[in-house]
Amino acid sequence: MTNEQQQSDVKVSPLLFTPMTIRGVTAKNRIVVSPMCQYVSEDGMPNDWNLVHLGRYAFGGAGIIYGEETAVEERGRKSYECAGIWADKHIAGYRRITDFLKSLDTVPAIQLGHTGRKASCRGAMENFAPLTDEDTEKGMAPWRGLAPSAVDHVKRRFQPKEMDYGDIAVVKASFREAVLRSVDAGFEMVELHGAHGYLLHQFLSPLSNLRNDAYGGYIEGRMRFPLEVVEEAREALPDNLPLSYRISVVDGEGGQWGLSDSLKFAKALEERGVDIIDISSGGIFGNSSLPHVPRVQGYHVNFTERFKRKISALVMVVGLITEAKQAEDILRENKADLIGMSRELMYHGDWPIHAAKTLGVDNYFALQPEPYAFRLRKREADKQLVINKPDEAKRALEQLLET
Ligand SMILES: Cc1cc2nc3c(=O)[nH]c(=O)nc-3n(C[C@H](O)[C@H](O)[C@H](O)COP(=O)(O)O)c2cc1C
Repeated sequence: MTNEQQQSDVKVSPLLFTPMTIRGVTAKNRIVVSPMCQYVSEDGMPNDWNLVHLGRYAFGGAGIIYGEETAVEERGRKSYECAGIWADKHIAGYRRITDFLKSLDTVPAIQLGHTGRKASCRGAMENFAPLTDEDTEKGMAPWRGLAPSAVDHVKRRFQPKEMDYGDIAVVKASFREAVLRSVDAGFEMVELHGAHGYLLHQFLSPLSNLRNDAYGGYIEGRMRFPLEVVEEAREALPDNLPLSYRISVVDGEGGQWGLSDSLKFAKALEERGVDIIDISSGGIFGNSSLPHVPRVQGYHVNFTERFKRKISALVMVVGLITEAKQAEDILRENKADLIGMSRELMYHGDWPIHAAKTLGVDNYFALQPEPYAFRLRKREADKQLVINKPDEAKRALEQLLET
């Protein structure tokens, strides 16, 4: 489909570029940069890479920018290179990033997480290979993760520790403190990473939670720990700042947690003040016959539309959303409220500006910082100058080439 065809299909002003206010925070559009782990931190610290990586999307015009999963506890990292916010020393580095993002009129958001039993491995480009004793010599000693039950995900150097009530209290407090630090660091939205087989998801899934106390068993027991974390987070977060929660809507491949479980859980989340349910999937892996979610265009949209029918919290969709018209249709058809994107933005950081042009937004350059927008507007104006009309330009060039 050409840009012109896409434009003519959208007669009214595009929803994708209609500002949205959530609690006290207004995003200039509904394009959300979905969290992306970078594996570039030392001791959890954000650095220049994170500033440029996230700043690039602010230059490109996104409305809300989530930083990567950020560990609330040192042992709650996957790898030694993961980002963290488990200590006050981290705050200043994030503040530098949030100040910059805000200066470009975008909403800085943080995703807080705890990896649980998926701890103690290498990063994505090394296929999350578990750390071994040999890594100790390189200063990367393997460590023991936490989990609802002492069940491995992939065999690691240490089996995860089954969390006792003391551990549960410590992790809840870590989430609370991480929220407080995030606010100090200038973030205007906080997301709890409850998906992809990490700690909060591990409590939900019967594959990883084999407990028979108040934190296991029936779904109410398995939901208890994540919901207590939500209560801590909501209490620590000022009323005017939104809270989102990322869920794996289905365990996917080999899992057992399904859509109806997620709908029930989402209801409980919204009752506790979660403003946005961010729908992802997968990450637990087990031996049931559930398949992987097929990676078709907009592969979570069929799920998010079910949430839109059943809950009143806002719903965010991610997963192969790459076209302006596709994103606009999702919003118009009420299948989601916010459009999350990662890989297309990695490929094309200025996607929002091009999408705005495609959807017929008049002043699409305004999505860029003024020093850019000014030059580009001028370039467009120059095209209208008489001397630049084809005949005039030809004559002028002929004259100049004679000199
Ligand atoms: C480089 C990279 C890092 C990611 N890191 C995270 C993360 O930290 N937390 C998370 O919830 N999802 C993470 N994801 C998943 C994305 O947020 C997103 O849900 C997924 O890539 C699907 O959206 P897309 O098709 O627009 O890329 C990551 C994806 C990529 C490509």
